[in-house]
Amino acid sequence: MTLIGNTKGLFMNIVTLAGSPGASSRSTAMLDYVKHSLVHTGATVSSFRLDDFDANTLVQGRWNDPTIVELRQAVATADALVIATPVYQASFSGGLKLMLDVLPQGALKHKTVLSLAAGGSDQHLLVLDYALKPVLSSLGAYHQLAGIYACPFHIEKDEDGEYRLGKEIRGRLDLAITELSEVLSVHTSQDHSVHRQNKGNLALV
Ligand SMILES: Cc1cc2nc3c(=O)[nH]c(=O)nc-3n(C[C@H](O)[C@H](O)[C@H](O)COP(=O)(O)O)c2cc1C
Repeated sequence: MTLIGNTKGLFMNIVTLAGSPGASSRSTAMLDYVKHSLVHTGATVSSFRLDDFDANTLVQGRWNDPTIVELRQAVATADALVIATPVYQASFSGGLKLMLDVLPQGALKHKTVLSLAAGGSDQHLLVLDYALKPVLSSLGAYHQLAGIYACPFHIEKDEDGEYRLGKEIRGRLDLAITELSEVLSVHTSQDHSVHRQNKGNLALV
């Protein structure tokens, strides 16, 4: 896991899951963009990618392994998740499914989720709605923002082999980041006011 963040501005805990096995990847490039924007707004981001886990540990779903415990704990305390996946055989990646499979039932209850996908064409544009969304719903994620799908046309490779996000996809990601920040700031301010009310009630007892 990689942890980045600061303490200014909003206090939001975000977990990101990168479902691409590639070190350099279109879906991870989108995720990195979202991650850095969120940190800029004051969020703390815990990032997980497939390389953080031993393959056997993940495939066998060893719940007590420290890397899996760390993932489960980070998800348990997160306000939101941002999940990125490549499109493989008209669905999301098996690697991402393995990370989701080690989460307990209801792990995404009360969390806001933003999903991102990169496909080789626009043929599987609905993969987030038809394949990933039901899986996240079964984990309790009732609040899912509209997902973002990108094709190679939106994210080109530059001369250095780095993926570069085009203007159009950056615009769509910016809108999603704004929406996520707004949703979370409403939730966190509601949480704080409930907390204050509870404290008030305690003082009256
Ligand atoms: C095994 C495999 C299966 C794929 N299946 C699809 C597919 O069904 N539909 C599609 O649009 N692209 C498909 N692709 C292309 C990838 O989605 C595309 O290269 C994407 O950029 C990969 O994401 P990444 O760069 O984040 O790893 C497939 C690629 C691989 C390696």
